Amino acid sequence: MRQVHEFEIKNMLRMALEAKERAYAPYSDFKVGACLKGASGAYYMGANIENASYSPTVCAERVALFKAVYDGEKAFDAIAIVSDSKMPTVPCGVCRQVLAEFCDGEMPIICACSNGEYMMMPLSEIYPAPFKMGEENHGE
Ligand code: THU
Repeated sequence: MRQVHEFEIKNMLRMALEAKERAYAPYSDFKVGACLKGASGAYYMGANIENASYSPTVCAERVALFKAVYDGEKAFDAIAIVSDSKMPTVPCGVCRQVLAEFCDGEMPIICACSNGEYMMMPLSEIYPAPFKMGEENHGE
């Protein structure tokens, strides 16, 4: 796993906490914030955006990632995730697959608890076998 300085983790967790306040989560009342650091050095924040029909809900991680990709960023250093839960907030399965589209297995996933404690693990550990299409189908 790529190393992330402790001060950088704290910085990203602070931004993820701020992002959490922008969540639209009237159905679950479970607000999540994410801070994604691009290889350019830019930070992209996201929060979960729910829907009355439930399944169109988009997680904080994907909001951050899609904002970044739209802005032209396609390589990433780390992502930090936080909610009001006492347990570390880890990415759901769909977000793991979406992260794996752009991030290598060494990408540090920083999963924080509401008290600021966190666990950090590489993407390859939480998502060891991402689905990928062959290069011939890649479209670029
Ligand atoms: N959620 C996230 O935004 N990220 C996660 O890592 C886990 C789940 C959101 C989706 C939904 O709005 C709420 O949390 C409850 O599942």
